[in-house]
Amino acid sequence: ELEAVIFDLDGVITDSAEYHYLAWKQLCDELEIPFDRQFNNNLKGVGRMASLELLLARGTRSYSPEEKASFAARKNEYYKKLIARITPDDLLPGIDALLSALHEAGIRTALASASRNASAILGYLGISDRFDVVTDPGALKKGKPDPEQFFLAAELLGVPYRNCIGIEDAQAGIDAINAAGMLSVGIGGYLEGAALRLSSTAELSLERLREAFFRR
Ligand code: G6P
Ligand code: MG
Repeated sequence: ELEAVIFDLDGVITDSAEYHYLAWKQLCDELEIPFDRQFNNNLKGVGRMASLELLLARGTRSYSPEEKASFAARKNEYYKKLIARITPDDLLPGIDALLSALHEAGIRTALASASRNASAILGYLGISDRFDVVTDPGALKKGKPDPEQFFLAAELLGVPYRNCIGIEDAQAGIDAINAAGMLSVGIGGYLEGAALRLSSTAELSLERLREAFFRR
């Protein structure tokens, strides 16, 4: 029985993936490190320090831990300025309706975002009270593609893993959902191993989720 839906944030609830891209782009320009939208796909779902390491590996020199910490902080300052523009109008299509339908059907909801800015973004979107559980990425030992955050979300919801669906826009996220034994829904692009692939959140509906869940 389908009991819970666990959502990624960036690229699923709102298009903050674009703001991550712009903030990293500014830092990379300053450090003269090549960076484009295509490489940015590798950073989706990947935590802040791990993303920085992937970017610095493309440069020509190495940096001290202190320098790395200051780069990560700088990127986050750029990012925080960008997300402060987010309003309730920036909810991706279909999300508001899906959250309402899930609530009415008694299906529980959780957020599983690697972002330490997730709560702030929920606030800007005006949807802080619409998830039963918001997992804290600071409480995790391993990031996606490890399933830890999806396990944590299900445990906090009190729902068996197999009765959960996870929705993600990143390959690391799909891998994490599959490793957790949940049904994976991939949004946009080509996501390997996604049980259901949708080109946009506008295609999300409770009926589609139910159908995919029972087809499994
Ligand atoms: C999400 C995004 C990543 C981002 C990570 C950490 O997983 O998809 O692009 O690096 O969160 O976000 P933060 O806001 O904590 O730097
Ligand atoms: Mg994402």
